[in-house]
Amino acid sequence: MTKKQKVFVTRKLSGHGLEKVKKLFRTKMNPYDRVLTKKELLKGVKNVDGLLCLLTDTIDKKVMKQAPNLKIIANYAVGFNNVDVKEATKRGIMVTNTPGVLNDTTADLAWTLLMATARRIAEADKFTRAKKYKGWAPELLLGHDVWGKTLGIIGMGRIGKEVARRASGFKMKVIYTDVRRFPEVEKELKKQIEIKYVPLKVLFKTADFVTIHVPLLPETRHLIGKKEFKMMKQSAILINAARGPIVDEKVLVQALKKGWIAGAGLDVFEKEPKVEPGLLKLNNVVLLPHLGSASIETRIKMADMAVENLIYGLVGRIPPNIVNKEVL
Ligand code: GLV
Ligand code: GLV
Repeated sequence: MTKKQKVFVTRKLSGHGLEKVKKLFRTKMNPYDRVLTKKELLKGVKNVDGLLCLLTDTIDKKVMKQAPNLKIIANYAVGFNNVDVKEATKRGIMVTNTPGVLNDTTADLAWTLLMATARRIAEADKFTRAKKYKGWAPELLLGHDVWGKTLGIIGMGRIGKEVARRASGFKMKVIYTDVRRFPEVEKELKKQIEIKYVPLKVLFKTADFVTIHVPLLPETRHLIGKKEFKMMKQSAILINAARGPIVDEKVLVQALKKGWIAGAGLDVFEKEPKVEPGLLKLNNVVLLPHLGSASIETRIKMADMAVENLIYGLVGRIPPNIVNKEVL
């Protein structure tokens, strides 16, 4: 019998996928219920053939150097900005992600944030728990209407499209921007909703809600900074359930304090899990601990997908969700 290949899993996952991995490979797991330190990660990955990791693990050259036989990095996330893909490709290592299964769940969360921010739900909940509710009042915790407004979507990918689809029940207009136009998506969504492709500037100037659904890339880092906030309506609300560094968080604090925009709903932060201290003091912002794909059902599907990618990569088949095809 050939010697079993070695696998390192950086965190316990939902579902039963890992049982399969344990049967097939010599599997080491992160024994703690927390993110591994760099030192622990470097140690765990030593001489493995396969790695199953999370978006909280930075997989750089140093990590890859520990495992000269590494064949596959199966990332348990759709975003893979935590992996140095260029370096992996150079070393002949396949990188995979978990697209598709989390589109609807993440779109639901972006909408949850949008609604919560517009209607001041987090503030209202705190108010009620603090026993401040003394009776209905004409001007108690007034928010902004969602229905009938213009939703600006930055990034009409798989998630952006599902966010757009959900706007139809709210009688909204959708405008979107991306590196290119998506006529086929427009055609499909037009059956449900008014949708238009616009340049980024026009989106900032006209949207009542701006929601981000692009990956983090060098081109999207600080895509929204001072100039962009100044272009936005003072009544605008920004939603970010993509990646923190797409928004300049320090400038966002200023924008919220000075009233350049009305509010923000954030599921992600520039230096996760750290949150810019200025944000914690503001009422016109809703803060979530990166819950985009966090439903029981979706996390099981993501685990199964990451496991399947890992197994395919190790048995010599092409993993279904490879992101660096040029490595093959
Ligand atoms: C979550 O943020 C993911 O990229 O899957
Ligand atoms: C992610 O799956 C996206 O394309 O938006």
